Amino acid sequence: MRNKEIPTFTSVFEQEVYEGLTAFPKHLSSKYFYDEVGDKLFQDIMAMPEYYLTNCEFDIFEAHKEVIAQHFIKDGSPFSLFELGAGDGKKTKVLLNQLVNSNADFDFRPIDISQNVLDQLENSIKKEIPEVIINTLQGTYFETLRDIGKANGKRKVILFLGSNIGNLLHPMAIEFLKNMRDSIGDGDLIFMGFDQKKHPQVILDAYNDKTGITEAFNKNILTRINKEMGANFNLDNFLHWEVYDPETGTAKSFLVSKEKQEITIESLDLMVRLKRWETIHTEISQKYDDDVVEWLAEKSGLSVVTSFSDNEENYKNYIFKK
Ligand code: AVI
Repeated sequence: MRNKEIPTFTSVFEQEVYEGLTAFPKHLSSKYFYDEVGDKLFQDIMAMPEYYLTNCEFDIFEAHKEVIAQHFIKDGSPFSLFELGAGDGKKTKVLLNQLVNSNADFDFRPIDISQNVLDQLENSIKKEIPEVIINTLQGTYFETLRDIGKANGKRKVILFLGSNIGNLLHPMAIEFLKNMRDSIGDGDLIFMGFDQKKHPQVILDAYNDKTGITEAFNKNILTRINKEMGANFNLDNFLHWEVYDPETGTAKSFLVSKEKQEITIESLDLMVRLKRWETIHTEISQKYDDDVVEWLAEKSGLSVVTSFSDNEENYKNYIFKK
């Protein structure tokens, strides 16, 4: 499977594609789903009725915004509200409006890898909630967490919504939470969304919609490799396959090869051979319960202050402190 010697890589994406497609079993990271097309597909996913996560989090904010805002406002001292992976801000605007109505002394600092996303968000907030002082930060989570850590003066509240943490295996999630803990001080807060364990069919439907949007999202990683590395994956030769293990709470996405095939990836000087029914694992979407969230917090040096949930307990937002 591996040809000749290991090539030199021009990006981490190339290196990880090489490593993932020469490993057994094969895997690719879901962080590479996202380019302009992938961002749009994810927005379409969030608007699907089956993808309950977005509406649940929105409903939680609507139902509990006064209490959530009071936790952020605390003693009334000024604070910066950071958001990792800001997106279109639809849910965050509920909290921003509430903070403005409560005369909170704060500024909003959304963080995203995409400057385009940040510009759109800044424009819409300036139009819809002009009272909000907004300072966007462009960069990866890791870089910006380091910067957040260095920023001193005001109290900090960090938002990490959408159960984005669920795309990390537990050891990586703990690393990430430890990084967050190291970037806050006493009196600062972290506010995070965690999708909860529930009827397994509801989860399978959310990640395997009949319209095929999630399938297109999953396959976008192959399209990116075709475009960016000169590969010749034929998307029709793969099935999108979702499994959910109710014991561990892990939903897993795969691309399953429908036939024996050989793919060349020019930039990597690599020929990838897939047997019929061989898999490429692409994403995990972890589901949680209170015990697991408390365990993750404890492992990361954080403690749970409180949590908010929708009526069905399908989804929860937790507040953590150091
Ligand atoms: C971004 N992340 C939290 C989504 C999730 O639910 O794991 C990505 C996604 N994958 C398939 N559908 C949505």
